[in-house]
Amino acid sequence: MNALRDQLTLLMGKAFEAEGLSSDLGRVQRSGRPELAQYQCNGAMAAAKQAKKNPREIASAIVERLKDNPFFRELDIAGPGFINIRLADDVLNTRSMEIAIDPRYGVALRDHPRTVVLDFGGPNVAKPMHVGHLRSGIVGDAMQQIHKFAGDKTISDVHLGDWGLQMGQLISEIELRSPDLAYFDESVTEGYPASGPVTLEELEKLYPEASAACKADPARMDLARRATFALQDGRPGYHALWKTFLDVSLAAVKREYHALGIDFDLWKGEADVADMIPAMLERFKAEGHSEESDGALIMRVARNDDNKTVPPLILLNSEGAVGYHTTDMATIVDRVASHDPDYILYVTDYRQNLHFEQIFRAARKSGIVGENVDLGHIGFGTMNGPGNTPLKTREGHLPKLHDLIQDATQRASARLEETGIGSDYPQEERADIANKVAIAALKFADLSNQPHSNYIFDLDRFTTFEGKTGPYLLYAAVRIKSILRKARDEGIEPGTGAISVATDEERDLVLALDGFGEAFLGAYEKRGPNLLCDFVYGLAQAFSKFYAAHHILSESDEALRASRLRLAEVTLGEIEQVLALLGIKVPDRM
Ligand code: ARG
Repeated sequence: MNALRDQLTLLMGKAFEAEGLSSDLGRVQRSGRPELAQYQCNGAMAAAKQAKKNPREIASAIVERLKDNPFFRELDIAGPGFINIRLADDVLNTRSMEIAIDPRYGVALRDHPRTVVLDFGGPNVAKPMHVGHLRSGIVGDAMQQIHKFAGDKTISDVHLGDWGLQMGQLISEIELRSPDLAYFDESVTEGYPASGPVTLEELEKLYPEASAACKADPARMDLARRATFALQDGRPGYHALWKTFLDVSLAAVKREYHALGIDFDLWKGEADVADMIPAMLERFKAEGHSEESDGALIMRVARNDDNKTVPPLILLNSEGAVGYHTTDMATIVDRVASHDPDYILYVTDYRQNLHFEQIFRAARKSGIVGENVDLGHIGFGTMNGPGNTPLKTREGHLPKLHDLIQDATQRASARLEETGIGSDYPQEERADIANKVAIAALKFADLSNQPHSNYIFDLDRFTTFEGKTGPYLLYAAVRIKSILRKARDEGIEPGTGAISVATDEERDLVLALDGFGEAFLGAYEKRGPNLLCDFVYGLAQAFSKFYAAHHILSESDEALRASRLRLAEVTLGEIEQVLALLGIKVPDRM
């Protein structure tokens, strides 16, 4: 059961081989001129160069070999030697039936499934979640769904930032403000108050203040660094206070990701590997991977042929505290031990490219991962404001994730109101639709860009029902649902009968349906969910053309009606499947 393009490539390849040429020349692609052909093969041009022959001659020889093969409806040569191909309708019918009965829509599982750890989300305790964490969540979750669909075993981890200097900054800030709290009494080692001293709102206000104070005053910063070290060193009061920050933050983080329909297998954080750090550092020292430098412990990872500076990892600062480098290294040790992954994929904004370059080099150099373990990083671009500079609030802050989701939902509701969609539905259903439209708008807008490019955040554009948007795709899917529902109301089922194409719109729809495998593989291998966005948009358009040109329910020929209904049903299934890979859910009606 192969995609049409693969079947074709095989056939063409054999013909080239029979001409004494390489079978690689048989590679076929969808035609850039759909009005002329469905597929094209440009192999004769390359062959001509190699064999120093006329490309048209080679193309003719290939066509001569294949022209009687029932696989083809039409084979001809265009221009200097392009082979234009149209497939026999029977071939399309057979393929469409294969797709129709396959719950995977003709997309094969990977031959060798991998165990993949996905590290995305990455919000920080006490700091509000911002747009960067939105992108990381959206892109990371799409990659998670893509790996699952490929048959890989996935383990996703939100990897909270909960063990760095910001914790010491906060603890020292609270200690300065409320020194009488039990957490700071060194004679007390247990029985701290059950609920923490600060709410999430207070925490989110406190952190910027603490951080600004530390920046302004080296002595204040020293205090924070010492508090960080004491926390990491296990001072009970600090640890208990830290735990209250963690609990408050984690609840908020979970709420936020839940609202986006994004879930993680593990809600771990940097602190979870604290216990593994001493042994890891001992090993680095013993094996000569680390060295002392100005009172700190570092690992050098620069190479002679570097064309940029790649600074060493700081494993312990002069205070003896660990930071981002060290926790990331220990997290690799932990993941290797717990999951034995074939691949670890990180999703953060591109400003961490260097960080991951350092980490990956250090992981290889120290041998904490085997050579066979793949380490990958998607460094995504920024979400920009109208001026094409990183999105900021009027006060100059990064917009909070919570506010963004709320804005998107409001905008989606307004759109529904404008278009009159669902005006007679119960309030609860309308709210559910608005929510799905908002999430579809945000996710599709984000994912339809290549992950590493920046894009302009424009809710008005994201929420329209026209063009390449999430809401358009929801609308396309819901329209098919309504056709199928109407059919059922009239007692007509798509049934299990044959699909039989006879018009160009039907043929093009089958070709579009057949393209899922190629788009999926591209998205998997290139880490580019955008390829699935392009694909599903093309599929929806192919359906639109088919729908505009044909009667479905009002078709009087029963076999034809059943065939078209079936095509509609498969299209819906495939669109919903692709959208699910993008983390987008389709309402029942709109
Ligand atoms: N907490 C980090 C941030 O907000 C992202 C964490 C990414 N994951 C990792 N293993 N470093 O920038």
